[in-house]
Amino acid sequence: MTGIYDAAMARRSVRTFDGRPLAPEDREKLEAFIGTLENPFGVPVQLFLLDAGEHGLKSPVVSGEKLYVAGTVEKVPHGEEAYGYALETLLLYAKSLGIGSVWIGGTMKREVFEKAVGLTPDKRMPCVSPLGYPAKKMSVREVIMRKGVGADERKKPQELFFDGDFGKPLDIEGDTEKLLEAVRRAPSAVNRQPWRIVLRDGLWYFYEKKDKGYVSDAVGDMQKVDLGIALCHFMLSAQEEGFAPMLTVSDPGIESPEGVEYIASVSLGR
Ligand SMILES: Cc1cc2nc3c(=O)[nH]c(=O)nc-3n(C[C@H](O)[C@H](O)[C@H](O)COP(=O)(O)O)c2cc1C
Repeated sequence: MTGIYDAAMARRSVRTFDGRPLAPEDREKLEAFIGTLENPFGVPVQLFLLDAGEHGLKSPVVSGEKLYVAGTVEKVPHGEEAYGYALETLLLYAKSLGIGSVWIGGTMKREVFEKAVGLTPDKRMPCVSPLGYPAKKMSVREVIMRKGVGADERKKPQELFFDGDFGKPLDIEGDTEKLLEAVRRAPSAVNRQPWRIVLRDGLWYFYEKKDKGYVSDAVGDMQKVDLGIALCHFMLSAQEEGFAPMLTVSDPGIESPEGVEYIASVSLGR
C-alpha cells in the first residue's frame, strides 16, 4: 500500500456523508483489501462491509451513510490492539481512495451492530465505522462534536515522546520525525491520545496512559484500540519510508508513571 503517510496526515473523522452509495469498483477494492489485512499481534480480526439499510445500522452522530464496516476479535490479550491496527489500516486505505470514515465506539446501538456481525460470546466487536463519500459541508452536529473534543488539537511532541525514560522529552530529528508525526495525528477515543513512546537503545517502546472509564466487557479496553491505531500509523509509515519494522511484546521494565502500561516494542530495522 502506498500513500499511507499522506493519508495519515490528511485524514479527519467524517460524520457527514453525501448520501451516495459507494461506487461498485470502490466497494470491490475495499472487499479485496480486507482479504489481505494483517496485524503484528497475530490475533485474527474479521471485518465485514454491511449495508446500513439492510441491517438497520445507524449512529446519532453520523448522517448520509449507506455502508458500515464492523468486525470481531477474540477476547484475548492484545485483541483490542490487533483490532485497532487492522481496522485503521483499512480506513487509511479507504482515505487514499477518497472514502471517509469515523471510528465509533460509543455513539451507536451496539446490539444492532453485534447482531449484524453475528457476534459470539468468545468475541468482541470493539468499534465500527461508516464508509462513504464526505459531504461538502459538515453538519452542525459534527461541528459541535469536533469542538467538544478539541478534534483539531493534538498534544505536543514533548508530552508524548521520551528519550531513555519518561523523565526526558525526545529530541525529534532525522528520518523518524515523520513516523512520530503520523502517531501524533492518529485518531483516538474522545481525542485522549493515550499513546506514549520511549526510545531506548534503538527500540521504540509503546505505552498506554490509561484514563478512567474506557474499559467495558463489550469493548475491552478502548484505549488499547487507540494504541493499535498509533502502532498502525507508526509501522505503516515506517514501511513506506524504507524501514522494516518489527513488533515484539517484551516489557523492558522502564519505570513508568502511575497508570501508564507497557504495550509493545518496535524495532525499525532497514
Ligand atoms: C477507538 C475510538 C472510538 C471513537 N468513538 C467515537 C464515537 O463513539 N463517536 C464519535 O463521534 N467519535 C468517536 N471517535 C472519533 C474521535 O472523537 C476522533 O478521532 C477524535 O476526536 C480526533 O478527531 P479526528 O479523527 O477528526 O482527527 C472515536 C475514535 C476512536 C479512535
